[in-house]
Amino acid sequence: MDYKLSNTAKEILLNNFQEKGFTIPSKGLYPFQWLWDSGFIAIGFAHFDIEKAKTEIKTLLNAQWENGFIPHIIFHDESNTYFPGPDFHQANLHAQANKKYKSTGMTQPPVTGFVLEKIYKIATEKEDILNFIKNNIDQVYKNHSYFYENRDPHNEGLVYIYHNWESGTDNSPIWDDIWESFDVPDYDFERRDTSHVDPSQRPTKKEYNYYLHIVDIAKECKYNDYKIAELSPFLVQDPLFNAMLIKSNNSLINLYKIIGNNDTKIEQLQKWQKKSITSFNSKLYDEELGAYIHFDLRNKKPIRFISSPSFSPLFAGIPNKEQAEKLINTMITKFGGENMYLCASFDPTSNRFDPKKYWRGPVWVNLNWIIYYGLLNYGYNDIAKQIKSDTLEILEKVGFYEYFDARKKAYTKEINGYGGSNFSWSAALYLDLINN
Ligand code: GLC
Repeated sequence: MDYKLSNTAKEILLNNFQEKGFTIPSKGLYPFQWLWDSGFIAIGFAHFDIEKAKTEIKTLLNAQWENGFIPHIIFHDESNTYFPGPDFHQANLHAQANKKYKSTGMTQPPVTGFVLEKIYKIATEKEDILNFIKNNIDQVYKNHSYFYENRDPHNEGLVYIYHNWESGTDNSPIWDDIWESFDVPDYDFERRDTSHVDPSQRPTKKEYNYYLHIVDIAKECKYNDYKIAELSPFLVQDPLFNAMLIKSNNSLINLYKIIGNNDTKIEQLQKWQKKSITSFNSKLYDEELGAYIHFDLRNKKPIRFISSPSFSPLFAGIPNKEQAEKLINTMITKFGGENMYLCASFDPTSNRFDPKKYWRGPVWVNLNWIIYYGLLNYGYNDIAKQIKSDTLEILEKVGFYEYFDARKKAYTKEINGYGGSNFSWSAALYLDLINN
């Protein structure tokens, strides 16, 4: 296959890059800096403009709070195309919030650690990039300390998220039962997302009521993590989020070893790592389903559904060989087959599967990228190749949308991708996949 979209992908990233040193995920729909988007975007830039990759990370880290927390959205500019904005989130209710940057008071999957390692591998000027990493890695370490000290109330090595927006997989059917467990007021607000994207591809108004209500509860707690752990009706241990943290721990260990003279931090990271992986496998692995699942910490029960995040632990080296084998078998039997592109974001055999709606079924390039590298990790080269070629085939066919139908037959002339267009991480990770 010739990779004819490589220039388009670069153009998308360059067009979405902003003067203030960050890249928007998609014009109109997402006009600010998002945490995990920035990580994936930096990987894309590293393939052709390493300075921009560094700037992206640097700007993200500039928005870090005094306690090590890094917010999920940084509102660098005023914008009336997005709701809810900084006035709704009021992150400054937290005493240690960043004084310079407006942001939300929630976070997103901690990808920065592994992004640094990945950029180190891609960069050709090793000395220069190592210098950059030396100057910034401690901030990422501090972010990990923040997680283990504040987001792990039972000291399990597994951190919680208190909002579905922290998961990155915003309206996955995983959360449906949680919404049933508490009541919400009916908010009066004007949605902005649905003026950019077909509403049938976005969450419902009712779902937005829940999303806003949990933010309001966190605000009542002044974004204090211990209070949130006590009071938030949404409190989940998410396998994707924790796998990203574990993968990033590992990258920090590798990078500190290269840098040298950081034995105390390496020891601490190894301790976290050991505890996290042990708990992850005992608490989040469901033998019967042959998959990793989410745990509802508020209602003290496992959420027994399979989603693309179920396979993300491969990326972080969490499963043993036998678990990996089962995981892949689950993926092939439920998500695979000749009529399906890998990898739907939610179990296609479930009645909650919706092929068009946001995280309720469509394929997302970042999850495919995570699973691809995970499969390579464990030596499943054939299926890795398949997920890679599926991803490239979809992108070559319809372009750099935000998410895509997993059903091959859905691709008619009228159908392209879903959600935002010229979507940065789809472009960025395309560049990484074709260069690997
Ligand atoms: C959506 C996605 C989230 C992403 C954001 C910006 O909200 O669910 O994962 O970070 O868009 O692209």
